[in-house]
Amino acid sequence: MDTLSVKSNYMKRSLNYRLDSEWWDYFLEKTADLRRPAICKNVLSGDERNWFEQALLELVSTRTRDDSQKLRLYIEGNLMNTGYLYDNFFPNLPDGRESILQWLQRTFGDVKFALLINNCELMNDTIPTAVVRYLSPLLEKTGLPCNGLQIDAIIGNYGYTPFGIHRDNIGDAIFHFHLGPAPKHMYTWETGYYLNTLHGRQNEQDIESFIPFANKFEITEGDVYYMPWTEYHVGYTPEISMSVTVTIQSGIKTNLVSNMLKQLSADLLVSADQGHLASEKTPSSPRAFSRLDKELDRNPLWNEYSFYDALKLTYDKFLLKLGSNCGMHAGVSARGDQNPIERTGDWFKDRSISVNDPFPIFWREHSEGLMEIYARGHDFVLAKETLVETMIRRLNDGGPYSYSSLLENTGEGNSEKRALELLNRLYALKAIVVE
Ligand SMILES: [Fe+2]
Repeated sequence: MDTLSVKSNYMKRSLNYRLDSEWWDYFLEKTADLRRPAICKNVLSGDERNWFEQALLELVSTRTRDDSQKLRLYIEGNLMNTGYLYDNFFPNLPDGRESILQWLQRTFGDVKFALLINNCELMNDTIPTAVVRYLSPLLEKTGLPCNGLQIDAIIGNYGYTPFGIHRDNIGDAIFHFHLGPAPKHMYTWETGYYLNTLHGRQNEQDIESFIPFANKFEITEGDVYYMPWTEYHVGYTPEISMSVTVTIQSGIKTNLVSNMLKQLSADLLVSADQGHLASEKTPSSPRAFSRLDKELDRNPLWNEYSFYDALKLTYDKFLLKLGSNCGMHAGVSARGDQNPIERTGDWFKDRSISVNDPFPIFWREHSEGLMEIYARGHDFVLAKETLVETMIRRLNDGGPYSYSSLLENTGEGNSEKRALELLNRLYALKAIVVE
């Protein structure tokens, strides 16, 4: 069996999913429908914290070098540049024989540091899958945030947050899963009070003089802390602690428009050549724009839709992709990327097949005789057949299924070839677990 199956079994054993629908009702009440900061004590068990620490260790060891732009390292309050990371950080990644805490102590000793890893959901599947499992009953109640979820890891003993008292982006609400071992203190101020009464400002570094007027939360290992975007805040972490945070990005209209335009540009210029454009010699008769014509002329999105309709279509697709990945933007590359292995009926026959819970698979009509399928933040098109619809419905309803039970009674004239096409695509996208 492949490594994802091993991990997913380990995840099922180690994570207990007490955060069910009822628990989130209690949470919504405690936070006044996500409008107030709140702390829930002892939510993660020791096993769960160990699991997350192991997953963090794996993330740091295997992904940070390739994704160095997602890393921010502060030493004694100063942001280190890329040269420092290549000279001092990457040569000393965990060696596989130590825990993450031992590695941090070996690497940083008594130095004050903050290691921030942004967009973990684009780096590997392990931590993101676990945290969206916790949050999915909540998202069923509140709906998907229009701009998706971001998952970050925050590690360090940096004292106060290096960038001072601040408010996060408008619409960004944060869930903080604290792994410890040391506690973290969070100080918050309601916006009107902070700005108008205390005359505070964004990125205030004179933190101590504001502390007596703050609300204080002590976040110890296993706690889940929540904070809406409306609060000014600063964290205080005197000794080494680790946490995983999930940011719900409701965002503002300009975020949405820029996300849609980015998506639209990717959809419009699918096969754009990578050649650079020549300089414009005569601005009164520019030539570079005409290079787009050939590309755009071939694209039905450009030819058959108004700009408004193309943007609306893009938004609908964007939401289906987001929904199929429980709010996360697609990032984890498909299995076997370059040369996917086509697995046969014989390969699936002796294995059990289930949807990669909690990620649902969606589909909708594409055009005459075709269906668009959305899985793990990606989409693909297949010939529309009852067999495919039935298989998707069965997968979403539960499982695990044997290959034959997944295919049985799916209607006249359906071909096994189509079933294999669907299963191979879903397996490549990690939308199903086959074990
Ligand atoms: Fe913040």
